[in-house]
Amino acid sequence: MIPHFLVFTPVLSYEFYPRFLNTIEFKLNLLLMKFFIDTANLDQIMEAKALGILDGVTTNPSLMAKENITGHQNIMDHYRAICEISDGGDVSAEVIATDYDGIIKEGIALSKIAPNIVVKVPMIKEGVKAIRTFTDMGIKTNCTLVFSAGQAILAAKAGATYLSPFIGRIDDISWDGMQLIRDIAEIYAVQGYDTEILAASIRSSNHIVEAAKSGADVITSPLKPILGLLRHPLTDIGLEQFLADYRKGNS
Ligand code: E4P
Repeated sequence: MIPHFLVFTPVLSYEFYPRFLNTIEFKLNLLLMKFFIDTANLDQIMEAKALGILDGVTTNPSLMAKENITGHQNIMDHYRAICEISDGGDVSAEVIATDYDGIIKEGIALSKIAPNIVVKVPMIKEGVKAIRTFTDMGIKTNCTLVFSAGQAILAAKAGATYLSPFIGRIDDISWDGMQLIRDIAEIYAVQGYDTEILAASIRSSNHIVEAAKSGADVITSPLKPILGLLRHPLTDIGLEQFLADYRKGNS
């Protein structure tokens, strides 16, 4: 006789299978939200790494300029240095070209710096075409400057490794950045896309907590909000008390 659970399983699977596959099987190795640092500053990358929680680094042309990294060779050397510090963690390096041929040429050059380079490509028509090509070539991509669920669907269809919705910049114009993360997480789960949601443009520690609740696979944040996660006044008061009590009996 066939057990009841076997008879009902296919019916349940019809509804639940895409979500099940996405969350349990496809993302088995990605169950913990990854922490990337969003900077080109080597000291800050090393400080985050020393905490033991760093999984990767994201940069962009503005962050490189902030560190005064200019000129082709210096830029390539700086990415190499970041890749070395990152110990195999993914390092997003952004293309400057906006035409398909230029993006491909730059992306291939960037990907040769180190195996952990992820080519960061803007969400434009030529960028989506390039992401498809990079995916077919086995080059990892991070689709950047994402502000809508529609853009997230296109990037996932093109096979992007990571998708970067900019939550802080959405909040800046009085929309809800975190709602975009929730919407994309729902779409990717229902459809079974395996593109990872990389919550970007993080401005506060609370953004990190909310991104974790909202289904982000990765957060990329400046150092300050990451360190802000450590802080709670009751921790400080409690520690002070514990140490004072210890000193009373051990001095
Ligand atoms: C993401 O990869 C971007 O580099 C970054 O998060 C943008 O953040 P900002 O909006 O604070 O410039």
